[in-house]
Amino acid sequence: MLTVSNICKTFNAGTVNEVRALRGVSLTIPEGAFLIILGGNGSGKSTLLNAVAGTFQLDQGKIELAGENITRWPEHRRARLIGRVFQNPFTGTAPNMSIAENFALAARRGQGRGLGWALSRRLMDELRDRVRELRMGLEDRLGNAIGSLSGGQRQALTLLMATWLKPALLLLDEHTAALDPKSADLLIRATADIVSRHKLTTLMVTHSMQQAVNLGDRIVMVHRGAVACRFEGADKQRLRVPDLLARFEEMRRREMLDESAAALLEKTYV
Ligand SMILES: Nc1ncnc2c1ncn2[C@@H]1O[C@H](COP(=O)(O)OP(=O)(O)O)[C@@H](O)[C@H]1O
Ligand SMILES: [Mg+2]
Repeated sequence: MLTVSNICKTFNAGTVNEVRALRGVSLTIPEGAFLIILGGNGSGKSTLLNAVAGTFQLDQGKIELAGENITRWPEHRRARLIGRVFQNPFTGTAPNMSIAENFALAARRGQGRGLGWALSRRLMDELRDRVRELRMGLEDRLGNAIGSLSGGQRQALTLLMATWLKPALLLLDEHTAALDPKSADLLIRATADIVSRHKLTTLMVTHSMQQAVNLGDRIVMVHRGAVACRFEGADKQRLRVPDLLARFEEMRRREMLDESAAALLEKTYV
């Protein structure tokens, strides 16, 4: 279970470049639940994930994961509890090493095991089985360099590495955004499969309303660093893309009203 309580983060505070990226965000993901984060460009989605992963310290607020208050934990300590997949297929894997070698490295990073992992017959069999479950035909290519694979295949392998040791939390930051639609669909299918098979507590950022409707059991929409609305339970199940589009449109209209009101005030008082 993840609990984020009233977290705030301002970048470059007190300068002309000040950005109030998170303005009091709270959310809870119960054990095994799957939350989708939606929001426009620059609304604070990645900053929220980075706050949970510990990329920076918060200005305010509290984060609890798996019964621990991790608010002050450094990033590397949280990494033992958290699996992450980013947007870029080139992050997280070593291109010149084979699939098997990359997994050996990932296992070593996670657990301090030796590279002997690579030689273990039993673990090679397990790797082949789990790679087969991705249904991308990669199980017969474990000796191939990761760099020779497509972006979608690399992302699927990164996902498998991130979830190998069943993390307390899986963070996905637009992990399909750099892929063509067909590869994105395959990766989404693999994601849904892995998350449900291992009952992973998951936080996924996406810009795709279709993905938000099809996946997960709850949605949080963020806007300007704050939660704009939430859907869960039967509301989430009933939700369709046009409903989400209407919400976005409503937010945009309200923002334009805010801006014109601000402009008006400026004209009146300056
Ligand atoms: N490390 C940083 N330093 C300064 N500004 C940042 C930093 N990270 C994010 N921001 C700013 O915070 C806002 C939210 O960014 P981000 O969370 O990346 O948005 P998105 O919802 O597109 O993922 C943006 O205005 C962005 O420029
Ligand atoms: Mg982002």
